[in-house]
Amino acid sequence: MKNSALTLILVLLMIACKNEIPQKEKPVFTPPVSYETASLWADTIVNLMTLDEKISLIGGNRIFFTNAIPRLGIPAVMMTDATQGIHLRDHFHEIVYEPVLPKSTAFPSPILLASTWNRSLAEQYAHSIGEECKAAGIAVLLGPGMNIYRISQCGRNFEYFGEDPYLAASMIENYVTGLQSTGTIATLKHFVANNTDFFRRKSNSVVDERSLHEIYTRAFKAGIDAGAMAVMTSYNPLNGEWCGQSRYVIDTLLRQQLGFKWLVMTDWWSVYDGEQVIESGQDLEMPYRLATENIKPLLDSHKITVEHINRMVKSILTTLYAMKSFDRKPDISLLSTFPQHEEVALQTAREGVVLLRNENQLLPLNDNVKNILLTGQFVDEIARGGGSGTVEGYNPVTLRSALQDEFGEKLTVSKKAKAEQIRSADAVILSIGTLDSEGWDRPFDLPDTTENMIMHVANLNPHTVVVVNSGSGINMSAWHDKVEAILYAWYGGQNGAKAVAEIISGKVNPSGKLPVTIEKDFKDSPGYGYIPAGETLYNDWNEEAEKLHPVFDVPYNEGVFVGYRWYEKKAIVPLYPFGFGLSYTSFSYSNLKVSSRSFRADEVLTVVLTVTNTGKTTGSETVQLYVADQDSKYPRPAKELKGFEKFSLNPGESKKVVIKLDKKDFSYWSPEKKDWVAEPGKFTILVGSSSTDIRLKKEVELSL
Ligand code: BGC
Repeated sequence: MKNSALTLILVLLMIACKNEIPQKEKPVFTPPVSYETASLWADTIVNLMTLDEKISLIGGNRIFFTNAIPRLGIPAVMMTDATQGIHLRDHFHEIVYEPVLPKSTAFPSPILLASTWNRSLAEQYAHSIGEECKAAGIAVLLGPGMNIYRISQCGRNFEYFGEDPYLAASMIENYVTGLQSTGTIATLKHFVANNTDFFRRKSNSVVDERSLHEIYTRAFKAGIDAGAMAVMTSYNPLNGEWCGQSRYVIDTLLRQQLGFKWLVMTDWWSVYDGEQVIESGQDLEMPYRLATENIKPLLDSHKITVEHINRMVKSILTTLYAMKSFDRKPDISLLSTFPQHEEVALQTAREGVVLLRNENQLLPLNDNVKNILLTGQFVDEIARGGGSGTVEGYNPVTLRSALQDEFGEKLTVSKKAKAEQIRSADAVILSIGTLDSEGWDRPFDLPDTTENMIMHVANLNPHTVVVVNSGSGINMSAWHDKVEAILYAWYGGQNGAKAVAEIISGKVNPSGKLPVTIEKDFKDSPGYGYIPAGETLYNDWNEEAEKLHPVFDVPYNEGVFVGYRWYEKKAIVPLYPFGFGLSYTSFSYSNLKVSSRSFRADEVLTVVLTVTNTGKTTGSETVQLYVADQDSKYPRPAKELKGFEKFSLNPGESKKVVIKLDKKDFSYWSPEKKDWVAEPGKFTILVGSSSTDIRLKKEVELSL
């Protein structure tokens, strides 16, 4: 057997076996040097440092490095962006970097990773990225991003893990342990409530405390508990204070309430008042000292003390020493691991592409389909997200070549197909999408040219498969029922098109499920109306305009009712609900049992059910478990995701699924008690295949 085939089997086996991670057993990373030992070492170094050396350390250097202290043998530490693999830069802001690695793998974007609902893939994905950091000598990965999808128009949704805090948290804890097991520090970003890129430094997120805990910090908490060693604060103000210099955000919320003890850094050029930065609990101003440029006058006037600076320096040193980041050197022999990374990237795309519609079982295209036309936007171009998280990749597979591999002679490609070509095809594959980016938001509605193109093709030939490449939801209302199939392919990285082609041919049975709700109209969204009156979206970095733009409020009036929590509360039917995704096979759910009808808050409740593949094809299902509080002091969502499990079944095969629930899964955040509270009373356990396709229910009662 060829080596590459063997590697593929091994990787797939690893992925399959890891599907078995039992619930409630949370992955936790332990650094090579303990926090206590590292902080003793840091104390010693701080004592040896001059004031100037200390001051130099609290700001970055050359945009992506920490400062070196050569006198004490402390080297500079390198960072890079993370989103869809590692962003290798050879220059930025007139700084030229020596290329350390010839290439990095373009992975699917995190929203696609979230669509896999596969914890072990999150771990594999991050492990692969960590290995590439190691190859490049990068000690700190500036990711994962995990801001909640509140607004479908947010330009950075592709970098995040969707709308549900439990799903995001589950993926993040595995991401963190996978990444950090390679000795690469994970940076959880952007803390906090950074949910739009429309003039992001000026959008003041007005959020209540309960929503902060239940929705916006939940994935951060999971990352922290899993051992993440860095956090990046966000551009936006939260309730009137810029996050990177807010004592509430950093000291109270992040450090005291969420228990984070390692390195905190600012986002790039995001803080303004040195005194506030230093007092907030912030450690490191990136990309260099700007707000904290003039520290000496602050010290002389006793506005800050040397103890403040010592604390910052100590936090930076403790973190980097505990992870042995000072020892990290490029190791390009690790290029030998890249083929495995490509396999992980491909497997992620296979599991994360979501089949939204498949009328008349158009897909997979069967042998009767002799004449397939490929047309549209991303035929020869790889759609990817833009901004700091962009990744070029290598050996990209285009949709043209991937479909040619699957269908050979049957495929005709015409970017601007004639009406007759479209009409006469047995099936049309129509590629459309949006190129989302950091720095701005983009409309939920597609441009007229794209909309017209889809209508044109759909009117001529209903046997159309629309393949959507986008980082977020788009408006499909006008045409979704005029085409027979829709594949939501997000940004799939360098091999994403291969996964799409394999799904279209039936080699792969789709198993992705939406990590977001796709609304019918943007007016339905909880975020509707966030753009200040009279303004419109822009499509550029617009940094100068941002500087001049006044701070404006983005009130999170919906509170905890974000995503499906909102649509269910308002009884708004979305176009495609959270958790939804079709398969080429079907699954039945039966025998739902709970370990006890009434349980105490200190007990773990075990939920068991049976799932059977009732179709003719092997396929993977993601069982979703939601909890509904029947009666509560505070308004609570109609249901909330609290467990899921993904597994593959052969035709006719059944599996006993076990999901465990603990007190936290029944709790809400009490702003009065400043803690999680589980109220005694009745709850309903709902189990299903999506948030709206609930197959089984059971009532349980919680006592104290
Ligand atoms: C982004 C961060 C990124 C940083 C460094 C900023 O523009 O918001 O996510 O890590 O740049 O590239």
